[in-house]
Amino acid sequence: MASVKTVFYCSECGYESPKWLGKCPGCEHWNTFTEEVMKKEAKQNRYSSVVTNSKPKKMSDIEVGKEIRFITGYRELDRVLGNGAVIGSVNLVGGDPGIGKSTLLLQMCLNIQKNFKILYCSAEESVEQIKLRANRLKDGNENIFLSSNTNIDGLIADAQTLKPNVVIVDSIQTVYAEDISSAPGSVSQVRECTLKMTRFAKENNITVFIVGHVTKEGMIAGPKVLEHMVDCVLQFEGERYSNFRIIRAVKNRYGSTDEIGVFEMTDRGLLEVGNPSQVFLEGRPKNVSGTIVICTMEGTRPILAEIQGLTAHSAYAAPRRMTTGLDFNRASMIMAVLEKKAGFNLSSSDIYLNITGGIKVMEPAADLGICLAVASNIKNHPVGDDTVAFGEMGLTGEIRNVSFVEKRVNEAFKLGFKRCIIPYSTNSESLSLEGMEIIRVKNILEAFGAVF
Ligand code: TYD
Ligand code: MG
Repeated sequence: MASVKTVFYCSECGYESPKWLGKCPGCEHWNTFTEEVMKKEAKQNRYSSVVTNSKPKKMSDIEVGKEIRFITGYRELDRVLGNGAVIGSVNLVGGDPGIGKSTLLLQMCLNIQKNFKILYCSAEESVEQIKLRANRLKDGNENIFLSSNTNIDGLIADAQTLKPNVVIVDSIQTVYAEDISSAPGSVSQVRECTLKMTRFAKENNITVFIVGHVTKEGMIAGPKVLEHMVDCVLQFEGERYSNFRIIRAVKNRYGSTDEIGVFEMTDRGLLEVGNPSQVFLEGRPKNVSGTIVICTMEGTRPILAEIQGLTAHSAYAAPRRMTTGLDFNRASMIMAVLEKKAGFNLSSSDIYLNITGGIKVMEPAADLGICLAVASNIKNHPVGDDTVAFGEMGLTGEIRNVSFVEKRVNEAFKLGFKRCIIPYSTNSESLSLEGMEIIRVKNILEAFGAVF
């Protein structure tokens, strides 16, 4: 009888342990270990590389062409992938359930089906359901083959006969490899299936998109296990109740990881948002206190967003601080500087900070905006609807320089703003735009002096 061994895996990072552990030594998450039965022979190929022939070769002898890309039909998606998807690459699309992963990939298939043959394997929905959805989204689906095969070897065999250019696996948590005895979705299954798919993609020069469900708790095999194996990891972000979806490259072997793509979920599927600044500022209240527009950089793209600040008398001894879309610790630090340097008494106030539109801004350039939004609320004095502010704040209240000032100011100018509050140390010679007032401030008090 084949000996059966059980192993424990961390569902978050894939850490392997012979016995159950409460806290994972790999990623320090609690209660993430699950037991899996493992056959002996399966163990050997778990660690094999993605390419089977792995004899050492001289680097200069290796012949490569330039990486060839294809356009997905979505400028926003192409930008995140780095000017299109690389042929032969394996791309993981992660995100919460229901956020739009299947919709995006199906729309991409409908876009590229004129030139490419596609195998779309979905175990999440029936082939009829996918067809209904596709019909609703766009006409024409001659070159798309649907399959609900969940056996990874069967799927690869299908792909070998069909010879598609693009394979979609929706989702990796539902496919299984027969030689692993644990259930689909377990760490070893997910790892094995991804490895098989990756190897197949590289050997046949087929582009693969894999959907991976990711819950906040990392319930099903976490993203980390897969991230190492694939070329590109695209992460869907967005508030559950907002229509905007932001796609970010968390890892990209063929391009930058800074770029984001912005989409809007509509009744006709995901639509590209070509001008995110305009969309994020839509519905902005006019002439009220406690709000200001900032300019943040997402990769090479400046994006305007609105920060709102609200202070309210606290009923508790320890007042509440809450941030949405901003770094909580950074915001706490800024509140401390405001107390110390600007003389605000915030120790008995609850403070709420919010970036509207579901975008996340982690950049320190938002500091000045946070200060001005809170100060404007406390003073009950609007900052001005035509004002944009950005700058990093230090612990002494100084406003420090940030990168890409010119791009940020130009974006504000394009959207009709008339006044920019920027760090003093910026070289402002290149910033002379007609009708745009540039106010350079050295510290937070100067900024307050300029607007209030
Ligand atoms: P889906 O792509 O199935 O999510 P995922 O694959 O990430 O789990 O998207 C499902 C959500 O998108 C669902 O709540 C309905 C919504 N949706 C629209 O609003 N409009 C549309 O045209 C489509 C296709 C989906
Ligand atoms: Mg889906």
